Amino acid sequence: TDIGVMNGPNLGRLGRRQPEIYGHLGLADIERDLLGEFPEVTFHFFQSNHEGRLIDQLEAWADQGIRRVVLNPGALTHTSYALRDAIEGLELWVVEVHLSNIYRREGFRAHSVIAPVARGQISGLGALGYRLAVRYLLDEAGVEA
Ligand code: DQA
Repeated sequence: TDIGVMNGPNLGRLGRRQPEIYGHLGLADIERDLLGEFPEVTFHFFQSNHEGRLIDQLEAWADQGIRRVVLNPGALTHTSYALRDAIEGLELWVVEVHLSNIYRREGFRAHSVIAPVARGQISGLGALGYRLAVRYLLDEAGVEA
């Protein structure tokens, strides 16, 4: 099984960026843990600070038949109709993940424009959220497809 793990703006600096909010693990640590926990999965990891690059990568994955994606869009969660349209248009099976609980922070974070086109959302469980999202995509994705 192929699964894409995509992280948006500012998430390349995890571990150093506000660790009291986002935790002490770096993105490479999170990716290494996924590889260790799910040896049966072929992971495709991608991080960019640029909205268009994220969309380009989703298109490339879709062209390769990779439609199961764990996505932490960072602040694009709250603003990006372009990313939302890509997920919808490419018919991706996305689990939206946030390290922090976006519902107990600033008001602008409590709204996700991505959530309506995601299968589900995990928010506030830290790095565990990525592992749970992969578990879901392995167990459930395709059942309704
Ligand atoms: C985040 C939450 C967003 O509001 C924020 O802009 C991020 C990270 C999270 O993982 O908690 O960059 O997606």
